[in-house]
Amino acid sequence: QKRIGILTSGGDCAGLNAVIRAAVHRAELTYGWSVIGLREGTQGLLRRPVDYQVMSLGMVDGAMLRLGGTVLGTTNRGEPFAYPMGDGTVRDRSDEVIGGFRELGLDALIGIGGDGSFAILRRLAQKAEIPFVGVPKTIDNDLGLTEVSVGFDTAVGVAVEALDRLQPTAASHQRVMVLEVMGRDAGHIALAAGIAGGADVILIPEIAYSIEAVAAKIRQVRSTGRNFALVVVSEAVKTLDGSGVTRAYHGGETRYGGIGSYIGDRISEATGAETRVTVLGHVQRGSPPSPRDRLIASAFGVHAVDLIAEGQFDRMVAWSNRGVHSVPLAEAIARNARVLPDDPLITTARGLGISLGD
Ligand code: F6P
Repeated sequence: QKRIGILTSGGDCAGLNAVIRAAVHRAELTYGWSVIGLREGTQGLLRRPVDYQVMSLGMVDGAMLRLGGTVLGTTNRGEPFAYPMGDGTVRDRSDEVIGGFRELGLDALIGIGGDGSFAILRRLAQKAEIPFVGVPKTIDNDLGLTEVSVGFDTAVGVAVEALDRLQPTAASHQRVMVLEVMGRDAGHIALAAGIAGGADVILIPEIAYSIEAVAAKIRQVRSTGRNFALVVVSEAVKTLDGSGVTRAYHGGETRYGGIGSYIGDRISEATGAETRVTVLGHVQRGSPPSPRDRLIASAFGVHAVDLIAEGQFDRMVAWSNRGVHSVPLAEAIARNARVLPDDPLITTARGLGISLGD
């Protein structure tokens, strides 16, 4: 009768609860094991008494599959090896976290996170010899060795819905609508949403843009008799010569948001078009998971428990070729997956005449 700990770590996204639900189902129904939910990443393991919740089947059935966010809570802060004490100093509190894990008598740990969280959790697991399995989640979809991470499809869906709503108002007013989307240093959300949402221009961090190229596309659109355009801008785009505003999210130093208005102003100057800017922000993280995210989350949750049953640790569940499998965790952490020049969606975008700003 094993006791499996489960936690969510890093930025939330849609589908986290669906992973937890699936793991509880597999653990209880197939193996007769119990699943213990740990609060707010590793924060709950630092508290005394340890902050946890036994996740029963009755608790996770029903709404959990459709619920955005994470019922366990999460955090970007509180790295146990360099824990910010609030007075400007940091302390190694990893032994306290490990102590919390031991106090609960856990046999293994499932961590649902991104590369940053996995690096920390892996270090903890190695230090304390905790059998660990990772489940990838991030709306940015920038984790290596998996085609998709939980949360990406929902975020794309939200951005496409925004474009569906922007198009009629753009057409009615003959405006250029700029939609700024998240993604950190990866342009996956912008590229996928821009194609699916009928954008004329998609700017991503991996391809340096020039306003002249963007303006040329808008003039070309006008020459066909259409007087509006849709422009999707990823939050960390850069200009060709490195100038202009780059407002990537860098660990809290530069706040997310703002590049969209900068680009909107430049388009207006260069083309005389009336522009309006929408910054989608955290709306991309908070909705109920899409059907595809529910499927992927469910497959990941079941497989993570199976890996524990098989004694396969230090691995991450992954998605490719229409199914779930697993990869070495260390390799997944090391392999950041940004949009590559030969990404099939780049070819699709160019084939559709979408300008990528280059
Ligand atoms: O990594 C996920 C993400 O949503 C990025 O797309 C975005 O830049 C960042 O997190 C926002 O972080 P926060 O929730 O801390 O504002």
